[in-house]
Amino acid sequence: MAGELALHGGSRVRNTPFPSWPVYGEAEEKALLDVLHSGKWGRLDGSQVAAFEQEFATYQGAQYGIAVVNGSVALWVALMAAGIQAGDEVIVPPYTFQATAVSVIEANAVPVFVDVHPDSYCLDPDLIEDAITERTRAIIPVHFAGQAADMDAILAIARKYELVVIEDAAHAHGARYKDQGLGAIGDMGAFSFQSSKNLTSGEGGIVLTNSDLYERLVRSVHNCGRLPEGEWYSHYIMGSNFRMTEFQGALLRAQMTRLEEQTRIRDANGLYLNAKLAEIPGILPFPRGQGETRHSYHLYMFRYNAAEFDGVPRERFLEALRAEGVPCSPGYGLPLYRQPLFEQLAFGPFTGYRQTVPNLDYSKVSCPVTERACREEAVWLTQPMLLGTQADMDDIVEAVAKVYAHRQELM
Ligand SMILES: Cc1ncc(COP(=O)(O)O)c(C=O)c1O
Repeated sequence: MAGELALHGGSRVRNTPFPSWPVYGEAEEKALLDVLHSGKWGRLDGSQVAAFEQEFATYQGAQYGIAVVNGSVALWVALMAAGIQAGDEVIVPPYTFQATAVSVIEANAVPVFVDVHPDSYCLDPDLIEDAITERTRAIIPVHFAGQAADMDAILAIARKYELVVIEDAAHAHGARYKDQGLGAIGDMGAFSFQSSKNLTSGEGGIVLTNSDLYERLVRSVHNCGRLPEGEWYSHYIMGSNFRMTEFQGALLRAQMTRLEEQTRIRDANGLYLNAKLAEIPGILPFPRGQGETRHSYHLYMFRYNAAEFDGVPRERFLEALRAEGVPCSPGYGLPLYRQPLFEQLAFGPFTGYRQTVPNLDYSKVSCPVTERACREEAVWLTQPMLLGTQADMDDIVEAVAKVYAHRQELM
C-alpha cells in the first residue's frame, strides 16, 4: 500500500490493461465466412437465426426465442404482443437505460416510475402496489447489472392485478434466479446483444417466452404482422421488419460456445470482489443471496459512501482510482424521469398519455434510492474486467484500498 497516489505522481497499482471485449477467434471467423459464402444472408433464407433462437432459449430455460434487431426493439415487440393500448400504464424502474421506458412511450403508453431497492438497484416490490391504478397493464423489472430482480414478489403482485410481466434481461445472459434463467420467468423476457453486452453480435436482441400465444404474436410483430398460415403479402396485426440477419445469428452461435465459461468466471470474480471490497470502509458491495443463483455481472457495481472517505466526493474517488489503472464510472448521472425527454414530455407523436393522464408531470416524481445512486453512490466497473484473473481482482482491491488510505490528500 506504500507510495503516493498515482494522481499525485506516485506509481500506478496497475499498468496493464484489463481483458478486452469482444472475445473472438477462429470459430467466429468461420461462422461469418460460412454465411458469406452461402449467399443466405437474411433469416428468411438461412437457418442460423432459427438455430440460435432455439439454442439461446434453451440455455436460459425458455420454450421460445424470437431474435430481433436490438434490445430496445425486443422490449417494444413484447409490449405490442402484450396488447398495450394508448394511455395504458406500465411500471418501470428509473435506474436503467432509456430503452426500458422509451419502449413504453413507443407503445403510446405511460411509463410509471417505481424506485429501486438499495440492496439491488432493481425494482423494489414493496413500492409497486402503491403505483398501480386501473390503467396499469404491465411491469418491466430490469435485472440490473445482471442481478435478479425479486421475481417471486413481482410475479405475486402481477397475478393479483392481472398484469403482464416483461423482464428486461438486457444485462442478464446466463444469470439465474432460484435456478431459473432470467428472462424466462415472466410472461416475456427481452435481451440485448449490443456491443457491450455479455453475449454480442454488435447489435441484436431476442424475446423469450414460454407462451404459445406470445410466441405467435411476437413473431408476427417482428415480421411485418404476418402469420405462418397467411400469405406473404397478408398483414394481420401492427408490426414491421425487425428480423435479425444470418451474420448475427451465426456470430451469436459462435459466441454462445464461450458464454457459459465466461459467465462462471464473472460470477466467481464478482463474489471474490464482494468479499475483499467489503473490508474497505466506505465501500459497500451489493449483497448476494437474494434469490439469484447466478449473477451475470454485466456490470460490477458497488456503493461508495463519501462520509467514510472523509467527505471525498465520488468523482474525485473515481479520478484517483482511474489514475491507479482501474477504469470505472459513476454510471447514470440522472434518474430517467429527470431527463429532458420526460420533464418536457418530448414524446413526439406518442401522445397516448393525454387520453388517460392529461396532467402527466414527471417533475413531481421522486425516487430517493435512484437519486442517491445517480448523485453520489453508484460505481460501475464493466463486465470484461471481470473476465480477468484473481490477481486482476486483487489489483482492483489494492487500488481501492490505496485510495482509501490516501483519502485525506484528495480533499
Ligand atoms: C437495461 C437495458 N435495457 C435495454 C437496452 C436496449 O438494448 P439495445 O442497446 O440492444 O437496444 C439496454 C442497452 O443498453 C439496457 O442496458
